[in-house]
Amino acid sequence: MGEYEVRNNPVSNGAKRAQIADFDAVEIHAGHSYLISQFLSPTTNKRTDEFGGSVENRTRFCRMVIEEVRKQVGPFSPIMLRLSADEMVEGGNTLEDGWRSYMPRAVKERFGKPCISMGNIRDPEVAEKLLADGDADLIGMGRGLIADPEWVNKVATGHECDIRKCISWNIVPLLWIICISLPEHRQHLKTSASSIRT
Ligand SMILES: Cc1cc2nc3c(=O)[nH]c(=O)nc-3n(C[C@H](O)[C@H](O)[C@H](O)COP(=O)(O)O)c2cc1C
Repeated sequence: MGEYEVRNNPVSNGAKRAQIADFDAVEIHAGHSYLISQFLSPTTNKRTDEFGGSVENRTRFCRMVIEEVRKQVGPFSPIMLRLSADEMVEGGNTLEDGWRSYMPRAVKERFGKPCISMGNIRDPEVAEKLLADGDADLIGMGRGLIADPEWVNKVATGHECDIRKCISWNIVPLLWIICISLPEHRQHLKTSASSIRT
């Protein structure tokens, strides 16, 4: 592996395309056991060359991708890096103690970069506390916004009580997502179940 593979990596080329398409920032996915995280993690990276072994070696591919993306998008475009800060598997990359807020805080403290916290953040008070305590600079939400796309507007206008709660109950059949909090999706499930029975 060398400059050629990184330069022709779809990640770096995609960053340029995203910029041309007028996105405000690009995110390099280095988490969730995807390619870059497979290099970062001692559980999957068993290489004996300059891309395996020490932390410096395991992070080499990731750093090359960041450098290439920076070259592609120029000096002024924000680049985000998505990391599994704690892999929660034996032998994987770990951080110690506590619930997830320790992850963005640890990354912030180590690298001095703004951090987004993500995962099971449902309650506006929890989100606010993460920001107020300085554990994160931004909040990311996935399923909570699927359950209630008006989440942000409701919080902004003091209608927190009206938020339709996400209970993290989803099914992902191929190209779309079923969310049990949405009445129309529950109906779809009932209809599918009864058509299977008959
Ligand atoms: C249907 C679905 C698809 C997802 N796809 C991606 C993805 O393509 N890239 C990614 O980084 N995370 C993806 N995630 C993970 C979310 O970004 C997020 O980390 C996860 O859902 C936890 O946050 P939440 O509790 O707010 O949903 C996906 C999650 C769901 C439920």
